[in-house]
Amino acid sequence: MAALHSFVGMAAVLVAIGTYLNHAAAGTLNSVMMGELSVGIIIGAITFSGSVVAFAKLQGLVSGAPVKFKGQHALNAGMGIATVVLGIHFGMTESMISLVLMTLLAFILGFTLIIPIGGADMPVIISMLNSYSGWAAAATGFTLGNLLLIIVGALVGFSGAILSFIMCRAMNRSIINVIFGGFGSDGGGETSAVSQAARKGVRSASVEDAIYWMEDADKVIIVPGYGMAVAQAQHALKEMMELLEARDVAVKFAIHPVAGRMPGHMNVLLAEADIPYDHVMEMDEINPEFPTADVTLVVGANDVVNPAAKSDSSSPIYGMPILDAAKSRQVYFLKRSMNPGYSGVDNLLFYQDNTSLIFGDAKDTIEGMVTSLKGGGH
Ligand code: TAP
Repeated sequence: MAALHSFVGMAAVLVAIGTYLNHAAAGTLNSVMMGELSVGIIIGAITFSGSVVAFAKLQGLVSGAPVKFKGQHALNAGMGIATVVLGIHFGMTESMISLVLMTLLAFILGFTLIIPIGGADMPVIISMLNSYSGWAAAATGFTLGNLLLIIVGALVGFSGAILSFIMCRAMNRSIINVIFGGFGSDGGGETSAVSQAARKGVRSASVEDAIYWMEDADKVIIVPGYGMAVAQAQHALKEMMELLEARDVAVKFAIHPVAGRMPGHMNVLLAEADIPYDHVMEMDEINPEFPTADVTLVVGANDVVNPAAKSDSSSPIYGMPILDAAKSRQVYFLKRSMNPGYSGVDNLLFYQDNTSLIFGDAKDTIEGMVTSLKGGGH
C-alpha cells in the first residue's frame, strides 16, 4: 500500500511538471493553473518520499525504530514554510529555479516527516499517506482538467483523513502530531522500565504446563497477533476452543484494533476458521474481563499487550491503549524467540511473575495443546 501511495505522489509531481513545461512552451500559463501546479507538486512530492520511507520501514529494509534528533520540529516547520514561500514565488513568477527548489524541499520534507514515526504507529501513518495520495490525485485532476480524478481523489483524501482520525483515537495519538510528523513519546528521559525488567529473567513453560491451567479454567482469553497469521494457527485454535468448551471452559478472543499488519487482520483470519462472531471481542469490550480470566493465551501477539505502553513514558509505544492481558491470573505467550514485536520494543509482560513463554511456532504449539486435550489433558 505504501509503495502504491508513492506512485500516486510521483505521478502528481510528474504530471504537474509536464503540464508546466507544455504550457510554458505554448505561452498559455495563467495564475490559477500556476497555483494548482504548486499545490499538486508539493502534496505529490511529500506523498512520494513519505510513502517510500513508510514502505522501507514496513518492509524491514530500514529499522522501524523512530529516528529523532534535536531541532526536528523546527527543521520541519522551517522547510514547510520555505516550501510554501517557494510555491507562491513559482506561482507568481513562473521561475524554474523556484520550481526545482520547491520540488526538492517537498521531497525532503516527506522524508523528514515520516522518519521520526516508530513502527507501532505506522498504521496511522499509512492511512494518513492514503489521504495525502487522494489529495495528490485530486491536484492532478485539476492540472489535467479531469473531473473524475478530482472527485475520486477528494473521496480518497477525505476517507483517508477520517480513517486516520478514527485510528488516532484508537491509538490515543493526536492527529495534529501525526500531520506534523512526530508522535509517540516525548523522549521523557525517565529510567526505562524496560531496562529494569530486562534484568529479572523470563520463565519458559511447556504445553503441558499451560494445559494444566487451561483445562480446569472457567475462562480463557486468547489474544491473537501477527504471529498467528504467520503460523496460520487459526484452525488449530478453533479446534482447541471446541475441546475447551466441551470441558465447560468459556473461551473468548480479544482483538486489538492494530493487531496484525492491517485493519481487521485478526477478524478475517478468525472468521476464516469459522470461529463464531460472539466469541470475538473488541478491546473496549474485553478489557474489563481480563481480571476474571484464569488464563490468557497470547498467540503471536506482542506490542498489543505490552504494559510499557502504560508505564514507560520513554517507550515509543507509550500512550497506545493495550489489551490488559497482564491482569489475568496466568499469561502464556506463544512465540518462537525472545525477539520483540513490530515496534522493536521489549515486552514488559514477559517479566511479570504470572507470565510464561512457550517457545515454538504457534501452530505447532496449539496442535500440541489439542493433542494433549484429546488425550485427556493433564
Ligand atoms: P507484533 O507486536 O508484531 O508481534 C508479533 C509476534 O509474533 C512477535 O513477537 C513474533 O515473535 C511472533 N511470531 C512471529 N511468527 C510467529 C510464529 N510462526 N509462531 C509464533 N509466534 C510468531 O504483533 P501484534 O501484537 O499483532 O502487534 C501488531 C504491531 O504491528 C503493532 O505494533 C502495530 O502498530 C503494527 N502494525 C499494525 C498494522 C495494522 S493496521 N494492524 C499495520 C502495520 C503495523 P517471534 O519472532 O519470537 O516468534
